[in-house]
Amino acid sequence: MTEGETKDVYISPFIQQITGEVSLPQQVYIFDTTLRDGEQTPGVALTVEEKLQIAMALDELGVDVIEAGMPVVSSGERESVKRIKQLGLNAEIAGLARTRNSDLDALHECELDVAHVFIATSDLHLQYKLRMTQQQVLDEIVSSITYAKELGFKGIEYSAEDATRTDLDFLVKAYTTAVSVGADRINIPDTVGTITPRAYGVLSKRLTEAVRAINNNVRISLHCHNDFGLATACSLAAIEAAGANQVHVTVNGIGERAGNASLEEVVMSLYALYGIPTNIKLKQLYKTSKLVEKLTQVPISPCQPFIGDNTFLHESGIHAHAALAHPRTYEPITPELIGKRTDSEMATKGVVIGKHSGAHSIREKLKTFDIDTTREQTAEILARIKEIGDKGKRVTDFHLRTIAESVMGKIAEPVLDLKELTVVTGLHITPSATVKLRIKQNSSFIEKVASDIGVGPVDAACNALQSAFKDIVKDIGEIKLEKFSMDAIEANTDAFATVHVRVSDQQGFVTDASASKEDIVVASIEALVNGFNRLLYKRREA
Ligand code: KIV
Ligand code: ZN
Repeated sequence: MTEGETKDVYISPFIQQITGEVSLPQQVYIFDTTLRDGEQTPGVALTVEEKLQIAMALDELGVDVIEAGMPVVSSGERESVKRIKQLGLNAEIAGLARTRNSDLDALHECELDVAHVFIATSDLHLQYKLRMTQQQVLDEIVSSITYAKELGFKGIEYSAEDATRTDLDFLVKAYTTAVSVGADRINIPDTVGTITPRAYGVLSKRLTEAVRAINNNVRISLHCHNDFGLATACSLAAIEAAGANQVHVTVNGIGERAGNASLEEVVMSLYALYGIPTNIKLKQLYKTSKLVEKLTQVPISPCQPFIGDNTFLHESGIHAHAALAHPRTYEPITPELIGKRTDSEMATKGVVIGKHSGAHSIREKLKTFDIDTTREQTAEILARIKEIGDKGKRVTDFHLRTIAESVMGKIAEPVLDLKELTVVTGLHITPSATVKLRIKQNSSFIEKVASDIGVGPVDAACNALQSAFKDIVKDIGEIKLEKFSMDAIEANTDAFATVHVRVSDQQGFVTDASASKEDIVVASIEALVNGFNRLLYKRREA
């Protein structure tokens, strides 16, 4: 293995070259706020039972702290927080409280382990929200933390809301005040996600130095929002710069506005990029993420790191080819690591077929369905896939199989070749169709055009087809359509259809054939032409 490579990840070796320049913590505690900040996601409202399910999943995942809610909000919220605590999980259960005794009483009533006390500190919030002076804020910090201490919580965490937009001297004063009266954890919220990673690192370092001068064991916690898409980057920057040892995260990064730092991103970065231990069981990540997606009904974007549907898929021929040869070429971690598919499933699930695919991916993908194609067949399948892709459609595994089957179902040297098809149909008119066939006779070809009517466009086209070649291949007599069925794959008007037919002749030869196209009538006629050709082939071989 080369530098940067381990059994399940392959990262930039440059990281190791600068490791000596940063002071990383021994371990980072994961404080999950999916049930509190995550539940503040617009549109999310979880039932008590759903919250219990999520709390149990988080505990199984190995988070250190579960912020179960803000008990003072409502009796329902208090009930769910209490019941989460009663589950007797391994994780510490925290609750959010304003700097009010009544809020802390509600936490105490739920017998919570950790009191997470917050009050805003920025001038903006003091002037427009709290209408308080800085001194009044400091007084509230003192009285509430002192009261929390009296109530006997195992941990007391203080957050200066809007910390990153607060005057630095006042911020230092707020945190040192909290620690000097008993807070043993400080949390630094970037409440509206407005700081850069480097600035957040520097700020966290300044605050760490200030509070650790009072109590060297204070836990330094980070809480970043993703308004500029920097929540994970800021959290990691503060871990690097200040040696912060706790991060607030939510599963799938849900939360107010653009959300919070995502648990999966932070945990996987700590594991793969920094080598810092957490208590998270990585293999449970995907499962937990899917549960939260299902219960909150906040869909995960396909491009969301690690957990999004696309993160281990390859459509481009070049990528798919390389990833089949060595998955780490285009997958930095093994999906198995987070409980997604295994490398050995790569061939079936990882390669997505689309207009950027190459012949190699198509052949490999088809092999997983036990379909072996020749070079010519692969080329034709690829051409059809590109045609579908150019129309902006997704090619599913089912499309691929039916296209392959319809291409492979074609006789190598067909007697009949459909050159043109025109169908006229509508309301209050008799459907009619005209076909132009190229027909092989001995070693030469002739063209035949025929028209007919029918009860519908498919029937008319089928009749036209019969009349076009009946006169020429006279000895066959009438070919009968025994069975006709169709699968529409999507529930859209532009659905991709596969038509299956069974045809027989008067001598008792029978054959099945199929064809797939977006146009139902064209798919029907192609299936019939395939059927007729197969029948003729069978008769010749008999
Ligand atoms: O974003 C924020 O400031 C918060 C605090 C309550 C910690 O969620
Ligand atoms: Zn928040």
